[in-house]
Formats: sequence, C-alpha cells, structure tokens
Amino acid sequence: MNILAIESSCDDTAAAVVKDGREVLSSVIASQVPEHILYGGVVPEIASRRHCESISGVVKQALQQAEMTLSDIDAVACTYAPGLIGALLVGVNFAKGLSYSADLPLIPVHHLRGHIASNYISHTELKPPFLALVVSGGHTHLINVKSYTDYEVIGRTKDDAAGEAMDKAARTMGLPYPGGLNMDKAAQGGNPLAYKFPKPSVENSELDFSFSGLKTAVINLVHNLEQKGEEINIKDIGASYMHTVASCLCDRTALAIEKYSPSALVLAGGVSANSVLRKQMQTLCEKYKIRLYMPELKYCGDNAAMIGSQAYYEFESGKIADLSLNATAALDIDKS
Ligand code: KG4
Ligand code: ZN
Repeated sequence: MNILAIESSCDDTAAAVVKDGREVLSSVIASQVPEHILYGGVVPEIASRRHCESISGVVKQALQQAEMTLSDIDAVACTYAPGLIGALLVGVNFAKGLSYSADLPLIPVHHLRGHIASNYISHTELKPPFLALVVSGGHTHLINVKSYTDYEVIGRTKDDAAGEAMDKAARTMGLPYPGGLNMDKAAQGGNPLAYKFPKPSVENSELDFSFSGLKTAVINLVHNLEQKGEEINIKDIGASYMHTVASCLCDRTALAIEKYSPSALVLAGGVSANSVLRKQMQTLCEKYKIRLYMPELKYCGDNAAMIGSQAYYEFESGKIADLSLNATAALDIDKS
C-alpha cells in the first residue's frame, strides 16, 4: 500500500511516499529555518504563509522522487494534531483536496504517533509493545505503547518540554535557532561536569518531568556572568546543561523501565537527535539489558515519512477521515 503523507505542524513543509508503513520511497522537506532564524524562533503567521507557498511543490517533488503519479497512490495521510493551528490547517486542507479530487482514503495522523513511527522506518523488526520516550520541541512524554494504535501516557512534563528548555537556554547563550541543535554542535568537547545545575523532580509523581527550574538556572548563570563581565564558556555550559537535561530524562525512564519491565525502549522526537541523550540512553539500556531503538538522524526531526509510516497502521485499524476533518492544536496521543 503506497501512502502519500503530508506534515505541516510547525516549521517544516514535508511530503513523502511510504510503502506498507516501512519503506520510504521518497521524503521531501522544505525547511523554514533561514526565515525564522531572524526572529530567534518560529513565527506562526510566517510558518502558515510559507506552508501555503511550498506545499504543492513539495508534494509534487515527493511524487516525482518516488517515480509515481497520483494513480499509484492508495491513500493520502496528513498530520492533523497537535501543532500550530494555522500551520496544521494548510496540510490538512491540501490533503483533503487531494483525497477528494483523486478519490483516495484520507488518514489523519497524530504528530507524536508519527515521531514514534520514525523508528519503524529505521528498524523494520520493531513492533509494539514497548516503552517510548518522546522528546520534541513541544512535548516530553513517557508512553507505554501497547499496540500500533493503543497508547498509555505514564509520564509527562509539568511545564516546559525538553526541546523548549534546550531552545530557550541556547537563545540566552547567544546561539541561533534552532537552539537544541546548535547547542549540541557548539558544546561538542565541553566538560559536562563543569557546571552543576538542579535536577528538578515532580513531587508525588515520579514519572513526570519538570524543566522550567533548570532552564531558569542556566539563564541566571549566563546573566550573572554577563553582569560580572566574565567569559561565557558555551562549550562547558552547553555540555553541562545537556548532561543535566539528558540525566533528568534518563532518571525517569529508568523508573519507568523498573515499573513496566519493557523489552525495548524507543526514543523519538527532535531532541532524540541529541548526542548526549543518545549516549546516556545507550548506557541506561545496557544497564537494564533492554534493546534501545532510536530513529536515524534524518528522521528525528519533523518529516512526512514518519507520518506515512504511522498512517499505514492507522488505516489498518480502520481510522479513515471524511472531508469534515479539522486540524486540532492540542490533542493527547491516547485521545487521537
Ligand atoms: O520534533 P521536532 O522536530 O518538532 C516538534 O515536534 O516540536 O523537535 C524540535 C526540537 C527543537 O526544540 C530543537 O531544538 C530540538 O528538537 N533539537 C535538538 C537537536 N536537534 C533538534 N535538541 C537537542 N539536540 C539536538 N541535536
Ligand atoms: Zn515534531
């Protein structure tokens, strides 16, 4: 089954053709980073406008790269939640138009389900059940993935997402958007123990996360150094900060492993590209002797191949939308 998938939930306009949920025949991404970099973050109105301008060309390119026309496609899928509403609407409406004009089934996909599915592309043997840690710009979730379409959220952030905490800290350190990625690059070779940051926990909910205190700590550190006219050692501060964020994520994941005894851990979302987190997760999974799955770097960030992968399983479970499908800015992964 060939699925043409569209992703437009934030600042990437993406389209892909995916066969049977696992084989990526094409994947095209038009990134808007050069534009948003001017503002230090995503400007929703600009994101929507750029999606409108790029989407038909990106979809056309995805078909061309797969050496297909619409007549070779069996279904159209799109990310419909969660994300920036104006951005999501562009992809949803384009997909609805295609589905109607080409008389193809329309499959709505939850963005975070897509991130988890990025691992199905890279690891063809991977099947639920497993434990997943989804770390993106807007979400930090520990999820008990019971089947391809059955999820139980067992831990989540009570304030900032891990990616958001990375982005804001990076901005304070003078690094360009996207902050997490640029901090990872700038801090290579830095000393992870040079600075001690707090590792906040959430009282009475051991699997939940909190990053706002940590984010404030690094912002205060940088401002204090600036006021004293001292050097901002980006390498060491960045390395120490990433080490602390990764340790917070690993600590909760360790508790979840102990509680749920999964046979595998799956890492997903934009922050899963982080070099420190990838290493710490590897060590954690070796300790507990469970298999660790991580997406290939090219599928960590937003892309449409992951949406096409998840769409296959949504379709198999009977999830097909009609033309009343609407985009939703906030929607839990288990309510989709
Ligand atoms: O999943 P994603 O592409 O978009 C959302 O669904 O939010 O995640 C974007 C987040 C941003 O916060 C970005 O800074 C972060 O992922 N990110 C990274 C790295 N690459 C992207 N954070 C840390 N290290 C990286 N290498
Ligand atoms: Zn994402």
